Amino acid sequence: MAFHSTRRLLSQCTNRAIVYSQNGDPAKVLTAVSFRPLPPPAPNTVNVKFLLAPINPADLNVIEGVYPAKPSPTPGLTAEPVFVGGNEGLARVTSIGDGVSGLSRDDWVVMTKAQIGTWCTGKNVGVHDIVKVPRVDGLTEVHAATMTVNPPTAYNMLKDFVPLQEGDWVIQNGANSAVGQAVIQIAASRGLKTLNFVRPRENLSELIKQLEDLGATKVLTYDALTDKSLRNDVKEWTGGKNISLALNCVGGKETTLMTRLLGNNAHLVSYGAMSKQPLSLPTSLFIFKNLTAHGFWQSQWYLTRPREEQEQVMNTLVNLMGQGKLKPPKHEIVSISAEDSDEEAGQKVRDVITKISEGQQGKKNLLRLESSES
Ligand SMILES: NC(=O)c1ccc[n+]([C@@H]2O[C@H](COP(=O)([O-])OP(=O)(O)OC[C@H]3O[C@@H](n4cnc5c(N)ncnc54)[C@H](OP(=O)(O)O)[C@@H]3O)[C@@H](O)[C@H]2O)c1
Repeated sequence: MAFHSTRRLLSQCTNRAIVYSQNGDPAKVLTAVSFRPLPPPAPNTVNVKFLLAPINPADLNVIEGVYPAKPSPTPGLTAEPVFVGGNEGLARVTSIGDGVSGLSRDDWVVMTKAQIGTWCTGKNVGVHDIVKVPRVDGLTEVHAATMTVNPPTAYNMLKDFVPLQEGDWVIQNGANSAVGQAVIQIAASRGLKTLNFVRPRENLSELIKQLEDLGATKVLTYDALTDKSLRNDVKEWTGGKNISLALNCVGGKETTLMTRLLGNNAHLVSYGAMSKQPLSLPTSLFIFKNLTAHGFWQSQWYLTRPREEQEQVMNTLVNLMGQGKLKPPKHEIVSISAEDSDEEAGQKVRDVITKISEGQQGKKNLLRLESSES
C-alpha cells in the first residue's frame, strides 16, 4: 500500500490511519498516512470501517512507551514499520470473509483484542478480535465507541471487591473522568450513594451540577479533604454508616487523605495514576482499620474472564445505556474530513492531544476519520 504525504488522491487513497513509528510525546510523534482500499477479507476475517474512536489517557501512555500493553506494528502502511494509535472504538462491518458466522454487513462491532489500532478509517480484523454490539433503542455511536474500557472498569470495581447493598456509600476521586462518570451512574442505578472528589476549577458549580445530574450524591473538591470539618459532615451524610469502598483514579496525597474517610475493613481500589504522584498509605490504616489496597486493570479482566462473562457484562451495560441510566461521557467529536491532507489530519490530532495534555478539558475526545470508502 502506498504512502501519500501530500494532498490526497481520493481515487486511490480511500483510507487513513493515525500512526507513529517511535515512542515519544504523542503531540509530536503522531502523523497521518493514507492507504489504498482494503482487499477482500481472508477467511474468518471481516473488513470494518471505524465510526468513532476515543482518545483515552492510556492511549497516550502507549504512544509514550510507558504502558505495559504494547501494540504490534501494522504492516504495509508505510515503508517503515508503524503502529496505529487507539485501543477502543466502534466499527461497522463492511465485508465478510468465508467461514464467518453470526455477523452481517453493517453490524456494529467493538474490539476485544487490546491495542488493535482503532485510529484509522478501515481495517481487516479476525472474528475473534471483535464482538458484535447488540443494537438496542437509545444506544448511540458514542455509547458504543466508549463501552469496552471505562464502563466495565466502573461496573467491575463496584461489583468485585465489596458486596455493596442499596444505600451504601462509595468514595472516588477523579470523579469527572469517564470512569468516574460511569461509577456515579452505575452506582446510582444500584441505589448506592457516591461521595465524589474533583480538582478545583473556575467552573466548579457547572461541573457539580453535571455530576449531580448523573446521580452523584455529593461532589467536593480535593481542597475539602484538608478541612477538619469534613469527617463530621461525612458522618452526618452517611448517618454514621461505614464507607467500605474507595476508587482511586489519581494517586498522590489526595488519595491518602480520601482513604482516611474509609471505615473498618474497607477496600481501596486503584485503577489510575493521573496525578503521576506515588500513593502513600499510613500503616495505621492497615493495622487498626484492616484496610485492604488493590489494583484493578480491565485489560487483565478481559484476558482472564471467559467470553460468556464478558458478553454478559457488555449486555448489562448496553441495557443500562438503552434505558438512559448510563449516559456516554461528556465528549467532543473531532472530525477529520476525507479531503484533509495527511499533514492537516496529523496536525488536527496533535492539536487535540496538546489540549488534552493541558488537563481540565472536561470532555472525552473521539476521532471520526472520514473515508471515501463505504
Ligand atoms: N485500570 C484500568 O483498567 C483502567 C480502565 C480505564 C481507565 N483507566 C485509567 O483511569 C484514568 C481515567 O481514565 P478516563 O478515560 O476516565 O479519563 P478522562 O475521561 O480522560 O479523564 C481524566 C481525568 O483525570 C483527571 N486528571 C488529569 N490530570 C490530572 C492531574 N494531574 N491530577 C489529578 N487529576 C488529573 C481529570 O481531571 P480534570 O478534569 O481536573 O483535568 C479527569 O478527571 C486514566 O488514568 C486511565 O488510564 C484505568
